[in-house]
Amino acid sequence: MCGIVGYTGKALALSPVLEGLRRLEYRGYDSAGIALVVKKGEPLWIEKRAGKLSNLEDSLADTHPDAHSGIGHTRWATHGGPTDTNAHPHLDNEGKLALIHNGIIENYVELRAILEKRGHVFKSETDTESVVHLLSDARKEHKGDLAAAMRDVCGQLRGSFTLLAIHSDEPGRIVGARRNSPLVVGVGDGENFLASDVSAFISHTKHALELGQDEVVDITDSKITVTDLSGKVLKPREYEISWDASAAERGGFPHFMLKEIYEQPKSIADTLIGRTAGLDTEITAGINLEGISKVVIIACGTAYHAGLVGKYAIEKWASVPVDVELASEYRYREPSVDKSTLVIPISQSGETMDTLMAMRYARTHGARVFAVCNTNGSTIPRESDAVLYTHAGPEIAVASTKAFTAQLIAMYLIALHLGSVRGVIDKKFVSEIGIELAQLPAKVEQILETVEPLRELTRKFKDSGSMLFLGRNVGYPTALEGALKLKELAYMHAEGFAGGELKHGPIALIDQGTAVIAVMPTSTSPLYEKMASNVQEVKARGAVVIAIGDVDLESAAHNIRIPSSHDFLQPVLAVVPLQVIAYEMAVARGNDVDQPRNLAKSVTVE
Ligand code: F6R
Repeated sequence: MCGIVGYTGKALALSPVLEGLRRLEYRGYDSAGIALVVKKGEPLWIEKRAGKLSNLEDSLADTHPDAHSGIGHTRWATHGGPTDTNAHPHLDNEGKLALIHNGIIENYVELRAILEKRGHVFKSETDTESVVHLLSDARKEHKGDLAAAMRDVCGQLRGSFTLLAIHSDEPGRIVGARRNSPLVVGVGDGENFLASDVSAFISHTKHALELGQDEVVDITDSKITVTDLSGKVLKPREYEISWDASAAERGGFPHFMLKEIYEQPKSIADTLIGRTAGLDTEITAGINLEGISKVVIIACGTAYHAGLVGKYAIEKWASVPVDVELASEYRYREPSVDKSTLVIPISQSGETMDTLMAMRYARTHGARVFAVCNTNGSTIPRESDAVLYTHAGPEIAVASTKAFTAQLIAMYLIALHLGSVRGVIDKKFVSEIGIELAQLPAKVEQILETVEPLRELTRKFKDSGSMLFLGRNVGYPTALEGALKLKELAYMHAEGFAGGELKHGPIALIDQGTAVIAVMPTSTSPLYEKMASNVQEVKARGAVVIAIGDVDLESAAHNIRIPSSHDFLQPVLAVVPLQVIAYEMAVARGNDVDQPRNLAKSVTVE
């Protein structure tokens, strides 16, 4: 969703602000804009454009405003279409105060009515513009103190927001605030940054400060002050960013998605390091895992599919019932939760609004929360009792790949740990699975080395109207994930089904030439023959079947071989060809691979 950058320091601000926006492009957006303080007390310098950042950059060719502070924004439209006028920053009527915003202001209609009565003239259809006018009035009431005005305004807002504001009367000062939406501070040498996430400033500094809920931050090039909404000064947590700038760059690959698919051997190995014999106490110190009667996994999209695989492993290895819930459904259902419930939110970004809210609901009802997250310092791990970090590194492509396989690994590790704590499995079993887990990076590597024919095969289906995905047991969530990837990237109708469900309706979709991808169980699984029968059923009705499995299936038109593994671990391998199919299909259809239409990386609104 929206990307936010603020810079104040010795450099000409346009360059670090543009660079930050470029690094935040992966979040998904449909317009971009920048405001800079060029001259004290004069109207701000501002440029904004609908469409890609390159539109804004084109309009800035040969422009070098003499400004040392400014803010920039990539907008993912919620209120009002993606036009130049609706793009952020928004200005007050004097043109001296600029504001950018991520999130949704729920009471903007009533605020707008009040502000229009006071004489403010609105130019856009956005919810954000109400805030800039409100802030303008508040600043006057607080005798020109922008931070005090921001605290006052935050108290009047309902909804979720990250806000950044600058005023031309105070060059070099940027004030920000956050509620249910991310904002981090980058601490530099003679320069400071504010951003939606650390990738915006990672090439300038690796030293960051975490901001909590309802906190206001006030920065200059040499000073950072954080307060709560009452003005009490707080000490934010400092941390060092372990990612380096090159991790957030394409490194020779044509797209981030392909790079991230190829990074999976490393991200899986990194997530496993030191954990195959059990989770150490540093991870589990904050949480008592004894006496749990139920596990609830909460997540959205791809992370939800990782949770579905986790259910199979946790129920079998830890012998405890598991529900897997779509966070957006769970949070509004008033589900029954108590202190014997272990809630596992799974989130790459750690900022997904629905997951965060669902988790907060469970926590206030007494549940223990053990998060799985890829982003250090983000809100979900901060509000959890314990966190198992996946070490997938920065995932820039909107469609999740390496974060998914790392989440699967986290699910297996938690299942093994819970099984041990509950006395269901012994050390020998843990070490046997540990050996299997440790082999996964090399097996994924092997798949990636032989992926070329699959890319060629995929191109043959480029003009298909639809693709269906079948799986059983852990292959079912894998099929769902394959279908989601194809929808997101190829904009093609795709659906995943459990093999056993076919006859209960979906088989009616099969026609001459329908492309069906069958995620076969491992050849030693008792379900292998059942799935082979499902393939026969669709083939008999004209389907062209592509089978993914550890042996060739005679009835399939095409076979994609993956190495054999323990049944439960197979999704880590089977999903790789599915990711490649979606990637190649998007390329073949001329789609924007890294930023598919209408999607955002970090879904910070509901
Ligand atoms: C799909 C995808 C999304 C995310 C979902 C949750 O490729 O990326 O479905 O998985 O929006 O995001 P996180 O994991 O950040 O909570």
